[in-house]
Amino acid sequence: MWKMKRDFQIDFLKISGLQPDHHLLDIGCGTLRGGIPLIAYLDEGRYFGIEARAEVLDEGRKELRENGLEYKNPSLFAAPDISALAIEQEFDFAWAFSVLFHMKDEVLIDTLRFVGEHLGGGGVFYANVIIGEEEEGEWQGFPVVSRTIESYRAACADNGLSVSVLGSLEKLGHVSHEESHDSQTMLRVTRSQ
Ligand SMILES: C[S@@+](CC[C@H](N)C(=O)[O-])C[C@H]1O[C@@H](n2cnc3c(N)ncnc32)[C@H](O)[C@@H]1O
Repeated sequence: MWKMKRDFQIDFLKISGLQPDHHLLDIGCGTLRGGIPLIAYLDEGRYFGIEARAEVLDEGRKELRENGLEYKNPSLFAAPDISALAIEQEFDFAWAFSVLFHMKDEVLIDTLRFVGEHLGGGGVFYANVIIGEEEEGEWQGFPVVSRTIESYRAACADNGLSVSVLGSLEKLGHVSHEESHDSQTMLRVTRSQ
């Protein structure tokens, strides 16, 4: 499951057009499960990861060393509050894998504002979400929040962003045999025209 989720991330992003010289923002990068192959693929200095929990990102830094990838010089930020983070970089790709549904509404709004401010003209933000109106759950101290597509559209529109729905993760090649994972929905978010 862990390897499938690692492979899915780089496979999906490459199929979506990620090139080695692109700048990629990985929001909620965790221990770099998805980040390690992306850092290996991207040119030096192109990967930027943001993680709310410093101790989790420390694990990621360890993984980076163990994989001999420090020379790729990724920028890794431990940032519990993205609105307080200053990054002077425009991104071709922003990515949040299994992250937006762990955000309360205020945090989601701050994150979308950050994406809106940092996505380049032709940039694209991909994120998987849980569509529905289920009762809120809990995971490692974070909420598990399902929302309607309309609420994502409205939150994105408030930040100058437009949403298109790509379909289920399963349809995109994410096969974990866990219905609650494979049925999640991938969103493609771009700047509004
Ligand atoms: C399910 S994990 C996914 C990690 C990584 N994207 C991956 O696929 O391996 C969700 C991650 O998002 C992080 N996270 C949750 N809320 C966040 C926030 N507001 N800003 C940054 N990271 C956040 C969590 O600490 C956790 O590492």
